[in-house]
Amino acid sequence: MSTEIATRFDGIEACVFDAYGTLFDVHSAVAQCRDRFELAPNAAATMSDVWRTKQLQYTWLRALMGRQHHVDFWQVTGEALDFALDTAFTDSSPPSGLRQALMDSYLTLHTYSEVPGVLKRLKDGGMKTAILSNGSPSMLEKVCESSGIDTVLDAVLSVEAVGVFKPHPSVYRLAVDRLGVSGPSAVSFQSSNAWDASAASAFGFRVAWCNRFGQARERLPGNPDVELRSLDPLPGIVGV
Ligand code: LAC
Repeated sequence: MSTEIATRFDGIEACVFDAYGTLFDVHSAVAQCRDRFELAPNAAATMSDVWRTKQLQYTWLRALMGRQHHVDFWQVTGEALDFALDTAFTDSSPPSGLRQALMDSYLTLHTYSEVPGVLKRLKDGGMKTAILSNGSPSMLEKVCESSGIDTVLDAVLSVEAVGVFKPHPSVYRLAVDRLGVSGPSAVSFQSSNAWDASAASAFGFRVAWCNRFGQARERLPGNPDVELRSLDPLPGIVGV
């Protein structure tokens, strides 16, 4: 894997993005509610981490348990939040209204600062742009609208179309089928989630791992083609 921003992907017909953690800052949900509910900064950060970790674990576990146990990402997000609240508030109940406020905030997550500009540069340069996410269609629609990036996306693809969460290969196949590209290698896939980047690479996408938090690389099948700290260099990489 290269960390050189001089990397070039040839023959790219579409740039496909993971949503949560890559375009949208999942921790901005708790940040939006912290002051209003007087949450201590460290406790709030821990709660946000537990919420996100559980949310992902529940997607993987439900996928393993079989299709009859699939529920959408909105339900998973709520159930993961209940676990995080139980963990954070062991001696008392959470403040009244906190759960609802946190769920509402998930629909108004902030994008990372470079995201709107990068999407616009790609689109202005004639590149097809899309989201491919675990998110349910309704939650993705709302967060794209509230952040304003709906205007610079050609498609918002949800795993609900295939009824199983990432990293099942049928999710990555959905992007190839729906975007009408010539094959997996014509897709540049971006994710900050290293496991998602690995699985997308194993499927056959060209992959930029947006390693926003300087995490160690995963030991999983697939090997992202390039490691970035933000999405800023992407237009150059795909030749836009
Ligand atoms: C998504 C999760 C993995 O957006 O962040 O698919």
